[in-house]
Amino acid sequence: MRTQIAAANWKMNLTLQQAEALVDELLQTPHSVNADQLAIFAVPFPYLITVKNKLAGKQNIFVAAQNCYHKKNGAYTGEVSAEMLKSIGIEYVVLGHSERREYFNETNAMLGEKVNIAFEYGIKPIFCCGEPLSIREAGSQNSFVETQLKESLFHLTADQLKGFIIAYEPIWAIGTGKTATSDQAQEMHAHIRNVFATQYGNDVADTISILYGGSVKASNAKEIFGKADVDGGLVGGASLIAAEFATIIDSLK
Ligand code: PGA
Repeated sequence: MRTQIAAANWKMNLTLQQAEALVDELLQTPHSVNADQLAIFAVPFPYLITVKNKLAGKQNIFVAAQNCYHKKNGAYTGEVSAEMLKSIGIEYVVLGHSERREYFNETNAMLGEKVNIAFEYGIKPIFCCGEPLSIREAGSQNSFVETQLKESLFHLTADQLKGFIIAYEPIWAIGTGKTATSDQAQEMHAHIRNVFATQYGNDVADTISILYGGSVKASNAKEIFGKADVDGGLVGGASLIAAEFATIIDSLK
């Protein structure tokens, strides 16, 4: 069975005190992360070490950065490198979130470089893709997402892609309360898996965890995660409420 993943994306929210309180509350709220499941917390850079320490010793629970720079090191004031993340023991990084693509002009080519640099330091990317509303309305979402994947990931080897994590997040469903239907999610997830199968074979495609993101909450997680090609979720707003996120974790297959 593919790894099923509930990933929290806190985005640019919470003070340190609020972040600590949220983790404490979550740990006190009953939930279970089984052997073939992961819970991952993508938190702001200044809280990485604190949250990691709080979660130390918890089985299958990890901390992720929300981004890293696409260059190794040097005169890039204000940026954070994969090497820095590695040096503080961070094992996952979210790359290519639509907010980064839109507000910080991250391109498919640049994201390919970020993926490379993450791999170089042994950090596992959670690679985001997804179409804007105009593309969905034009019915060209499949080819749009396929291009994102090809231009950022198809230089990788089959070995690198085994167990890779993709997050499909239709931009029109992020933070809008408007979730894709579970059938729409399944349709795109199956397409994404097929894109990898065509290029790399089923052996690789069947190991890739494809998460759905966009207004996932406690009340809809079970139905969405229940679909055959949906391997969990990347959760924004609802991950800021302990009880919501605990239920989302428990909704994993
Ligand atoms: P949302 O965000 O759950 O608040 O829609 C998801 C995301 O952007 O990762």
